Amino acid sequence: MTHPAIQVPALIAHRGYSAAAPENTLAAVRAAHQAGATWVELDVQLLGDGTPVIWHDTSVARCSNGRGNLRHLSWEAAQTLDAGSWFGDHFAGEKMASLEAMIALLNELKMGVNMEFKVNRGRDPIALVDRALPEMLDTLPPERLIISSFNSSALSRCRQFASRERLALGLLFGGIPKTWRAQCEAIEAFSVHADWSRLKRPQAAAIQRDGYHLMCYTANDPSAFHHRWAWGISSVITDEPAAFKRYLDSH
Ligand code: G3P
Ligand code: MG
Repeated sequence: MTHPAIQVPALIAHRGYSAAAPENTLAAVRAAHQAGATWVELDVQLLGDGTPVIWHDTSVARCSNGRGNLRHLSWEAAQTLDAGSWFGDHFAGEKMASLEAMIALLNELKMGVNMEFKVNRGRDPIALVDRALPEMLDTLPPERLIISSFNSSALSRCRQFASRERLALGLLFGGIPKTWRAQCEAIEAFSVHADWSRLKRPQAAAIQRDGYHLMCYTANDPSAFHHRWAWGISSVITDEPAAFKRYLDSH
């Protein structure tokens, strides 16, 4: 075995079911599960006090009722924020999720996770990996975990912690660079995660020929994505898992 025995899902709910619930929250993961998704994509980064949390942006402004940057926030202060009302009254009181709480929910639901190490401007990729990865390796089975990042230092650091038999790593790209193959080889990648709107068919073919799973983000219209499946794409990462589930169930 060269990689964990992952049953690669055709559908991964982006930030949870982020079209139906506040992104990256426990509620969004529950909603994805209810919609029939078996995997979610989530973003992890560190608060100022080092607590790993599930959050996408540099700041809390867009997805909570607070202001300021994550790097200046303590866990205690983060828990005073309402991370649900911005999305809808129904979600009032939803909190920023710790990595620990999110893993507990994923294990309860037996869901897989594509955890993205989100290294925003000025943040330290090594500190993030060193703090968050051991917790994931201790609590999530290899078959239900794929780590991805745009940040190559974060991915290299991950590989230092765990062999490719133990940990699936995915390289995130916007446009696929000429160096994609060398980058994959350097971290013994499991998968390539590409912006679906920028991916070219020959690139898709080359990635698969080399044995990497190809995952496409963030596609939200199954009919616009329709002809891409013929390119041999393994997974779609989508804000609209229910729509893609309907599509996949009927094709
Ligand atoms: O992992 C796919 C996608 O989440 C990457 O971009 O900005 O949505 O985290 P972003
Ligand atoms: Mg992400």
